[in-house]
Amino acid sequence: MKLIKIKAYAKINLTLEVEGKRPDGYHTLNTVMQAVSLYDHIKIAVREESGIGLRCNLPYVPCDGRNIVYKAAVQFYSAIGKMAYGLEIEIDKRIPVGAGLAGGSADCGAVLIALNQLEGSPLTMQQLMELGATLGSDVPFTMLGGCAVAYGLGYDLTPIKPMPSCHIVLCKPRFSVSTKAAFEALTPANYSTENRSAHMVQLLEQGDLSAIAGGLYNSFEQPVAGTRPLIHTIKAKLTDCGAVGTLMSGSGSTVYGIFTSSKRAYAAQRVLRKLCQEVYVARPMKKE
Ligand code: C5P
Repeated sequence: MKLIKIKAYAKINLTLEVEGKRPDGYHTLNTVMQAVSLYDHIKIAVREESGIGLRCNLPYVPCDGRNIVYKAAVQFYSAIGKMAYGLEIEIDKRIPVGAGLAGGSADCGAVLIALNQLEGSPLTMQQLMELGATLGSDVPFTMLGGCAVAYGLGYDLTPIKPMPSCHIVLCKPRFSVSTKAAFEALTPANYSTENRSAHMVQLLEQGDLSAIAGGLYNSFEQPVAGTRPLIHTIKAKLTDCGAVGTLMSGSGSTVYGIFTSSKRAYAAQRVLRKLCQEVYVARPMKKE
């Protein structure tokens, strides 16, 4: 039996600008994403049995054809023209689910890369990322890692200089947000016209953490906080604890705070645990 162990890293959005709606109903985005050190653990065992088996430590995560990882395995083998044989995939989820941290996408991206290696690299990285894009908008970024700016539907990616060293406190409230519902709730008043993402690329290039913290922006933050005021409360509490900047990630519901000191970050984690179901301290990741 062969056993592969992989880590699938979460991401945060430093900017997430929704710029408009396309005739097909999808939205055009301009976003800067940064991988962080919070990860799901995935084991892939190859056995002498047919088919694909999937297991997850969280009972409410579906482990059949509805799971993005299951779909990824099916589509990967269909793309290379082979039968999926004896795959037993086990996901130990630590990244909060429905949280704006691309947890499902990260699992999907990591499994695509691992299966490709297992099969002797029949697909190029570009082909794998294109396959990932058909499964979820954030999948190609999770395969790239580090920091990148994305245009359009979110998978036209340009790698950029990552955040300087810092501590990121990730606060996931008890409620989750459906990405689809969050997009549907946007009105043209929420659309961004200022190209804050291009500005963020410059700030990252300069590497001044306070300036980066000052440039954080998310088109979803105000509309989501309008119905979920806890988002404002978490941001205020993180600021009280010494965060130099705070933002909701993705379409929510995770809110993060950026800290320069680890002591303050861990103190904030203790305080925020009173408001949120899951609170983690993570670091920005460079491209591996
Ligand atoms: O790609 P992902 O599965 O994350 O998208 C979830 C939903 O969010 C889509 O079905 C679509 O309704 C909406 N969406 C959008 N514009 C995008 C990405 C997603 O409207 N660029």
